[in-house]
Amino acid sequence: MLATMFPIERPRRLRRTRAIRAFVRETSLDAGDLVYPMFVVPGRGVRRPIDSMPGVCHLSADEVAREAARIHELGIGGVLLFGVPEQKDPEGSGAWTDDGVVQEAVRSVAGAIPGLCVITDVCLCEYTDHGHCGIIEDGEVANDPTLELLARQAVSHARAGANMVAPSDMMDGRVGRIRAALDDAGYDQLPIMSYSAKYASAFYGPFRAAAASAPKMGDRKSYQMDPGNAREALREVRLDVEEGADIVMVKPAALYLDVIRMVRDEFLVPVAAYQVSGEYAMIKAAASKGWIDEERAILESLLSIKRAGADLIMTYFAPDAARLIERR
Ligand code: PBG
Repeated sequence: MLATMFPIERPRRLRRTRAIRAFVRETSLDAGDLVYPMFVVPGRGVRRPIDSMPGVCHLSADEVAREAARIHELGIGGVLLFGVPEQKDPEGSGAWTDDGVVQEAVRSVAGAIPGLCVITDVCLCEYTDHGHCGIIEDGEVANDPTLELLARQAVSHARAGANMVAPSDMMDGRVGRIRAALDDAGYDQLPIMSYSAKYASAFYGPFRAAAASAPKMGDRKSYQMDPGNAREALREVRLDVEEGADIVMVKPAALYLDVIRMVRDEFLVPVAAYQVSGEYAMIKAAASKGWIDEERAILESLLSIKRAGADLIMTYFAPDAARLIERR
């Protein structure tokens, strides 16, 4: 049967010129699909390169505003802000004070660059001295007492002018609690992008070095997902959708393309994916050795994440990718 089809079907006919390849390309990448994560530190005029993430810097609020303007000019849809405060404490109080690092950065960006979507990470691990994403009670990360603090953090970001909040802590019930708190405070139009299927991954290493947020004791396996589980991701997504998540996220991205596809097929809400620090660092490291072509690896990795079903992608490559897309 196959033999009789040949040579009638010749897939290579549609691969011979750039123009035809473009006609038949099923997936495309747009700068508007990308979100650029940034690390906010205290101070003014601070622009400090991060060792574990070549090309990424710690930025003070004023520098975040400058960088965000460039990001917007490149056609990138949004920025995602993480805070790296000077002081950390057991309750992560720097997370929800109105004069926190992220709140200040949001104020300096949100008004100044209309059209750019300013998203804030909602989680305690960058602010707690023990490095866990919730508060500790009896030697465990305590779920329900943490929810109140996350809700306060989200409302504080909203007050500063955030356009979207993104809880990444993986406590049960946090989307519902944050939604209720936002609604109560008058922010019923503010969307929640939930890190719904966030795995306990080795690939967050460079981020944790950048945010000094590695847990001081234990690990995150009691709240982040087991890498062996895919059906459980659907459960997590279902719960978040029921609690009011507007966008659901799978994280990391490239190692979990099957999960992105399953979520895309099973749910109608938009799907986000996070190309995490370790995915970024791997490409950067191999490229610096001359082992892979960095530009092609950037575009191929992002295109594959879209092909798997992601509508939007958080990526440290956003500025590079936007320039490459433009040039193509
Ligand atoms: C937690 C958080 C982490 C990342 C985003 N939000 C780290 C963690 O869970 O330890 C990782 C992002 C990356 O690796 O790029 N607030």
